[in-house]
Amino acid sequence: MEEITNKAHVLLLPYPLQGHINPMVQFSKRLASRGVKVTLVTIDNVSKNMPKESGSIKIESIPHDEAPPQSVDESLEWYFNLISKNLGAIVEKLSNSEFPVKVLVFDSIGSWALDLAHQLGLKGAAFFTQPCSLSAIFYHMDPETSKVPFDGSVVTLPSLPLLEKKDLPTFIYDDLYPSLAKLIFSQNIHFKKADWLLFNTFDVLEKEVVNWLRTQYPIKTIGPTIPSMYLDKRLKEDKEYGLSLFKPNGETCVKWLDSREIGSVVYVSFGTLASLGEQQMEELAWGLMTSNCHFLWVVRTSEENKLPNEFMSKLSEKGLIVNWCPQLDVLAHQSVGCFFTHCGWNSTLEALCLGVPMVAMPQWSDQPTNAKFISDVWQTGIRVKAGEDGVVNRDEIASSIREVMEEEKGIMLKENAIKWKQLAKAAIDEGGSSDKNIEEFLSNL
Ligand code: UDX
Repeated sequence: MEEITNKAHVLLLPYPLQGHINPMVQFSKRLASRGVKVTLVTIDNVSKNMPKESGSIKIESIPHDEAPPQSVDESLEWYFNLISKNLGAIVEKLSNSEFPVKVLVFDSIGSWALDLAHQLGLKGAAFFTQPCSLSAIFYHMDPETSKVPFDGSVVTLPSLPLLEKKDLPTFIYDDLYPSLAKLIFSQNIHFKKADWLLFNTFDVLEKEVVNWLRTQYPIKTIGPTIPSMYLDKRLKEDKEYGLSLFKPNGETCVKWLDSREIGSVVYVSFGTLASLGEQQMEELAWGLMTSNCHFLWVVRTSEENKLPNEFMSKLSEKGLIVNWCPQLDVLAHQSVGCFFTHCGWNSTLEALCLGVPMVAMPQWSDQPTNAKFISDVWQTGIRVKAGEDGVVNRDEIASSIREVMEEEKGIMLKENAIKWKQLAKAAIDEGGSSDKNIEEFLSNL
């Protein structure tokens, strides 16, 4: 690896959510390992439980008097105001150091940060915590109506598979979070002016889409942002993945997994934000129980009250429920045979990189599109079918799990998953496509 000799200093601004912090922290570590100075800008609400420095990364935290608003839409505006008011002072403080800041790598969700970077005399690179396929879909949206060309049954877009309504990002047809949708839809305009677009993906994973998007934007694939030791057990790289905003129940999980047979456990998680309705939660609980497999289920504290009492009284026969776990350690554990997932982009990449087949039950945002790729393009999982009321029933859940864990199809999915694991490793290894892209990004600063 070529040592970067210029005194580059990169400022990173992840949106303060777990699924955004993890990949950007991991990317920061990759930059820092190349001799570049890296400072992560966050807010006190996130940094209160973390050290002022995390290994080679320095943390600049912005204080705030009140707690961030609970509602998604309000918190976006609150965060925008806080950063706009404080970023200039941080850049000025750091510009007096031996390593003046050259570039702001900002979370693509806050595309307003690009103008802020340019006003402060910095280059601006958007970091996408979602796949290229999402940006390719949003690219074709009518800015007036926020609609994509749709003939009533399928959407046909360059470089993408045929997409039905159930495969589209939910922002296109629901208006649950209007401000968030507005921000996402305004990305096209901003990103035409960006110096770089960095995607947490790798070339062969989204080959056609990456090639097509490259004709529109200065994109660089830099992923997967998984610590390389998980891709090769001989590597002893820093194991800490991101910065956890939740308290993992690591020892309990690993001890429980240690006592199970190889490939016998279904790991179940719906990530950091998705919230299932009570009826769906009940169907999932009984689906897991009747699947006949052991299961490790992450149920966040805010969701616990939806668990049926009768199910809880039988839980110890088959499963373990925790509020949060060290997900990479769990996916890398030999007892785990399948991942029942909401298809958040990080979870999707983590399962691919660790060679774990999936049962996909997407909830919102990019997750339906990720599920489409998992089942139809990469063929590393199957997708559950919801009934007319939108609920996936217990029989569907149990039979989908059995299909992956016990049937012929499961063997094919596992083989494909292992293939993607090897390709992911090749992309981030020295000389791989993502490794080269990171080098190029730094040498152009
Ligand atoms: C949402 C979007 O769907 C996703 O595509 C986007 O990029 C981030 O926001 P989210 O619910 O955060 O997703 O899920 P995901 O992207 O899968 O990220 C969750 C992260 O939390 C993963 O890195 C996962 O390893 C970690 N996690 C999850 C844990 O460490 N422990 C857990 O128990 C559960």
